[in-house]
Amino acid sequence: MDILLGLQWGDEGKGKIVDAICPEYDIIARFQGGPNAGHSIEFQNIKHILHLIPSGIFHPGKLNIIGNGVVIDPAVFKKEIENLGLPLDEIKKRLLVSARAHLILPTHRILDAAYEHRKGCAKIGSTLKGIGPAYTDKAGRNGLRAGEIFRKDFRNLYSLRVNSHLEILRNYNFEFDLKTPEDEWFEGIELMKEFKIVNTEYLINDSISRGKKILAEGAQGTMLDVDFGSYPFVTSSNTISSGACTGLGVSPRSVGEIFGIFKAYCTRVGSGPFPTELSDPTGEKIRETGHEFGSTTGRPRRCGWLDIPALKYAIMINGVTRLIMTKADVLSGFSSVKVCTSYKSGGKEITEVPVENDQLIEPVYTEMKGWKEDISKINDYKSLPDPLKEYISFIENATKVPVMIVSTGPDRNETIIR
Ligand code: GDP
Ligand code: IMO
Ligand code: MG
Repeated sequence: MDILLGLQWGDEGKGKIVDAICPEYDIIARFQGGPNAGHSIEFQNIKHILHLIPSGIFHPGKLNIIGNGVVIDPAVFKKEIENLGLPLDEIKKRLLVSARAHLILPTHRILDAAYEHRKGCAKIGSTLKGIGPAYTDKAGRNGLRAGEIFRKDFRNLYSLRVNSHLEILRNYNFEFDLKTPEDEWFEGIELMKEFKIVNTEYLINDSISRGKKILAEGAQGTMLDVDFGSYPFVTSSNTISSGACTGLGVSPRSVGEIFGIFKAYCTRVGSGPFPTELSDPTGEKIRETGHEFGSTTGRPRRCGWLDIPALKYAIMINGVTRLIMTKADVLSGFSSVKVCTSYKSGGKEITEVPVENDQLIEPVYTEMKGWKEDISKINDYKSLPDPLKEYISFIENATKVPVMIVSTGPDRNETIIR
C-alpha cells in the first residue's frame, strides 16, 4: 500500500494527483477526515470537488473505499453521490464503505458551530462540518458507526446520542434548527443503505496479499494533524502516514511509497500560526493567480512563501519517500521567489517547528531567481524553465527527498512525471 498525503496545511492538490496517478492502482482508500476535505479534480474542462468520496471514483474499474478512520455525514454523502455525474449503479460498483466508519450526526454540526461561537476571537476556523464533535464521540465511545444503520433499533440509538447533544447545547446560548438537517440526514442514511458497508479491513488486506495495489489518500495536511500540527489550530484526526494504518486497518509492514505533496508556496485556511504568511500585495497576487479560495467553504486562503523547516518536519513525521510539487505555474511571473530556510526566535536561529503557538518566530529567507514562462503546456521535465529547475533542486537538496511529480495546472493532464 502506498500513501499520498499533504505536507502543509491542506489543499496541496491531493485530489488532482490521486486522480492523475489512479491508473497505477486497483484501490483508492480515504483513511481519515470527512467532509471538511475538498479535493478538486479537473478533466475535460469540468471541475469536480469531492469531500467524502475517494479521488479514484472517476476511473472505471477502480475500487474506492471510505475507510474506518473517516467520519461520514450521510447528508453530504447523498449530495455528493447525486452531483458526481455518474450513474448510481456504476457508483455502487466503484464505492465501498467501512462498517467501522463513524457517522457525523446533525447535532455534531450544531455542536461544532456552538463551540466555535463560544471560542470568540480564539476560533479554530473550523469548516463547521461536525468533525471535532464526531471524533470526540468516537474517542469517548459514544459514536454511531456506519455498520449500525441496518439495525432495527437504529432510530433509537440515534435519538439517545442526539438527546445527549441537546443537553449539552442547552448550556449554550445558540440558536439552531434541527428539523431540516435531520430530514436530510435520514435521506442520506436511506441512500447509504443501498451501498456495500463491510469490514473493509479484510478486503484491503486480502487485496494486498493478492498483489493488488492500494493508494491511501490523505485529507487535510500534516500541519493540521491533531498531534503534530499547530494544536489547537488543527483538525481532529491523524492526517499523517501512520493514520493510514489505523484508518484502514493495514500494518505498517505493508506500506510502500509515501508520497508527500506540497505547493510551491504555502496556504492556510482558518486560524493558527503561519510563519511565512504574506499580508501584502505579493500574498494577494498569489491568492488571485492561484485561485486560493477554499474548496469546501469558499473562504480566502492565507498565502505565503514556501516554508522548508515545516516541510522537513512533515517529511520526517511521515517518512516521505517521494515529493510531489503542485502549483509551480502560479509563481510564474515573479522576478524572484523566496524560500524560508530557518526561523529566528529571540535573536537565535532555529530550524525546528516550535511546539508553542505563541513563540514569536520570524522566517529567514533565501531569495531565488523567478521564472516567467507559462509552464502549463510543458509536459517534460527538461523543458521547464531553468530557474524553476533550480528551485526544485534547492528543495531536493534541503529535504534529501526527490521530487517525482511536478504539477503545472489543475487538469489531470497538466502533470509531469520524472
Ligand atoms: P486538495 O484538498 O489537496 O485536494 O486540494 P484542493 O482541491 O482543495 O485545492 C487545490 C486547488 O488547486 C484546486 O483548485 C486544484 O484544481 C488546483 N490545482 C491543483 N494542482 C494545481 C497546479 O499544479 N496548478 C494550478 N494552477 N492549480 C492546481
Ligand atoms: P483538504 O483535504 C484545508 C482546516 C480548517 C480549520 C481546521 C479545523 O481539502 O486539504 P475542521 O473542520 O477539521 O474542524 O477544521 O482545519 N481544514 C482544512 N484546511 N484543507 C482541508 O482539507 C481542511 N480540512 C480542515 O480550515 O483551520
Ligand atoms: Mg482541499
